[in-house]
Amino acid sequence: MKRLSAFYFSGTGNTRYIATLLCKKLSAAYETALCDVAQNADFSEQIRGADLILIAFPIYGSSPPIPIRAFVKKYAAALKGKSIAIAETQYFFSGDGAASMGRTLEKLGAKVVAAEHFNMPNNLADCKIFSVKNGEEIQRKLARADKRAEKFAAAILKGKQKRRGFHALPHAVGYYCQRKYWRKLEADKRSRLRVDQSRCVGCRLCEKSCPVSNLTVRAGKAEPQGKCVLCYRCVNLCPRKAISLIGKEPPAVQYRGPNA
Ligand SMILES: Cc1cc2nc3c(=O)[nH]c(=O)nc-3n(C[C@H](O)[C@H](O)[C@H](O)COP(=O)(O)O)c2cc1C
Repeated sequence: MKRLSAFYFSGTGNTRYIATLLCKKLSAAYETALCDVAQNADFSEQIRGADLILIAFPIYGSSPPIPIRAFVKKYAAALKGKSIAIAETQYFFSGDGAASMGRTLEKLGAKVVAAEHFNMPNNLADCKIFSVKNGEEIQRKLARADKRAEKFAAAILKGKQKRRGFHALPHAVGYYCQRKYWRKLEADKRSRLRVDQSRCVGCRLCEKSCPVSNLTVRAGKAEPQGKCVLCYRCVNLCPRKAISLIGKEPPAVQYRGPNA
């Protein structure tokens, strides 16, 4: 049987949900391995032995997140010549989110055989213009994403090239509407995660769940270390709603993931 290695980064669970779903749907033709790139592991063997590689990530300002970019950079030589499918999750818009990573991979000599965007619930919880909606809204989005995953997996299995956003217009829109400004904002915000010390009770949930060990509890209070990757896991998990990043204040409603 052919082998599929799926590599994903997921802040709040949406991308893990999609990567898991795609692995399930592709398991008819592939033996699958699901790998979280935030795990401190050597993935060389999973790349070398794969007939197809799935790379899945959430979009941040039409850009792939830092941990996925770091993964691709680290394994650039191993990815050369590989067939790759890209699954990008977003709230509603990225222009060329999947293709922006696709172009990087193609420059490395990989072959992007498929790329798709999946609209998922919003996790940017402290940003007032995008409110978090839980309950039925999540179920509606998941039902639509499930259908899209079904079609995407079927196209891959049939060997159809389905490459979302690999055109000049989405490229221009993704770049000029977001990516051009995003990288500067990203660099700035990395060191600006805020913990409201009057609310923090030092429960360590943020420390334990941060994918890059950016939070450390000292003297009963969580302190950011300046290396945030903007995944919003801590903002959405904090039981005291003490953490904020892009918004001015911690969120009124938190996003607890697709399986909450
Ligand atoms: C910092 C940040 C920036 C985001 N930028 C966008 C965006 O440009 N377009 C969009 O549609 N969604 C955007 N989102 C929403 C997420 O991409 C979306 O909710 C994604 O499915 C979250 O995946 P995860 O649960 O695997 O982390 C952003 C979220 C965050 C945290």
